[in-house]
Amino acid sequence: MATAFSPQAEQKIQDICRRYPNTQAACLPVLHLAQDEFGYLSDEVLDLVADRLSLPKSHVFGVATFYTMYHRQPVGKRVLMMCTNVSCMLRGGYDTLHKLEQTLGVKAGGTTADGEFTLIEEECLAACADAPAMICGRKYFLNLTPDKVEEALAECRKLPAHSHGATASASATQTPGQKKH
Ligand code: FES
Repeated sequence: MATAFSPQAEQKIQDICRRYPNTQAACLPVLHLAQDEFGYLSDEVLDLVADRLSLPKSHVFGVATFYTMYHRQPVGKRVLMMCTNVSCMLRGGYDTLHKLEQTLGVKAGGTTADGEFTLIEEECLAACADAPAMICGRKYFLNLTPDKVEEALAECRKLPAHSHGATASASATQTPGQKKH
């Protein structure tokens, strides 16, 4: 069966397109929506997005392969993006990544045997002030030290599956750069 957006997704695409000056500008949010809809961005899905937005396939392919939050291969129900860039590295990001690998039984880049999690070593997540940082779906986990990993994973399991693309939604208690009081 040909790949197609659900009626609900189609409605959201129309809403997105109304908010942007042209379909090129709408490409990123529509790719997020497509990823939520299909789980990852296969060639077929990229073709669908290009057709729907009347954009060159090369443009859509270029966008989807430039940003790491877009997945070109199947991923687990939830994607963990653990930052090991400079600020996070200096504050123990690799220790947290290794704890995640150990706890999940999978190396960075892999998916757990039960298909629950894909673990990705990520570049800066724009949460340097609260390093080390991790994103699961749309949720940030800040100051994520190894001793907090198991609690964070338990919380991740409660998050919606295939909810990709971080936004400024609240973390367990805070958004990036927002200090606890
Ligand atoms: S370096 Fe990790 S969030 Fe910026």
